[in-house]
Amino acid sequence: MVSTKTQIAGFEFDNCLMNAAGVACMTIEELEGVKNSAAGTFVTKTATLDFRQGNTEPRYQDIPLGSINSMGLPNNGLDYYLDYLLDLQEKEPNRTFFLSLVGMSPEETHTILKKVQESEFRGLTELNLSCPNVPGKPQIAYDFETTDRILAEVFDYFTKPLGIKLPPYFDIVHFDQAAAIFNKYPLKFVNCVNSIGNGLYIEDESVVIRPKNGFGGIGGEYIKPTALANVHAFYQRLNPQIQIIGTGGVLTGRDAFEHILCGASMVQVGTTLHKEGVGAFDRITNELKTIMEEKGYESLEDFRGKLRYID
Ligand code: SIN
Repeated sequence: MVSTKTQIAGFEFDNCLMNAAGVACMTIEELEGVKNSAAGTFVTKTATLDFRQGNTEPRYQDIPLGSINSMGLPNNGLDYYLDYLLDLQEKEPNRTFFLSLVGMSPEETHTILKKVQESEFRGLTELNLSCPNVPGKPQIAYDFETTDRILAEVFDYFTKPLGIKLPPYFDIVHFDQAAAIFNKYPLKFVNCVNSIGNGLYIEDESVVIRPKNGFGGIGGEYIKPTALANVHAFYQRLNPQIQIIGTGGVLTGRDAFEHILCGASMVQVGTTLHKEGVGAFDRITNELKTIMEEKGYESLEDFRGKLRYID
């Protein structure tokens, strides 16, 4: 009876859980692993126009309550992911998948998005405006003027379903300002949140990752309250046509439940997927279904966005 089905931009998914871009999605083998698990879909590693080696290793470390990473957008280049997706959409026409991408400059972002626009790709595109790990490149979505300009330029030519991956915001005024920009555009979704950028984790007297002298994006349990706040803040402010994907601190079915309660239509798993493998999707789905059963909810619509406040 209980179903965790969902939809984004009119595309239906059998389950609301999927990977977060960056985890289990660099190679076709990894993407196939997520596709053939209990996850409802997958998103690719964020693709740049060309192959990137990324930052030097060690660049990802599990830490007690999550993870720290400074990967630096290693990826196989747009064509690798796009060719795979074009093939897959013929083989599995009833399923929809996400392509994550960003250029190393606004010009490159436009080149990539124009290639996707001109291709036969029928899935969802996620423009990553939030990578904190490329030395010398700020997180785009912290610069509202640039974000507004890029989106205005993109929607001049891009007509396929598009969403954006956001960094966490920490100020109510920034939620207001960011939402006012996003509401101007025909975005299909925003994904809240990428890692909390530029944390430091120390063991004995040393950092634990090499790039940027140890500064890296923090994921996992550390970030759930921030992720939930961003999901709910945008759920309250965005036009209802812009759906929310909730990402950050999903270890259990309870965490997924909280993201949906805050307004998420889809929930992504990053650090936990890295620690546990694709079996995490089955476990978290079962835990979520048990909570729904206990509460008498049959579908996500029964509780999505219905967070209660104290009068
Ligand atoms: C990375 O490749 O550095 C992580 C991806 C991201 O944070 O967007």
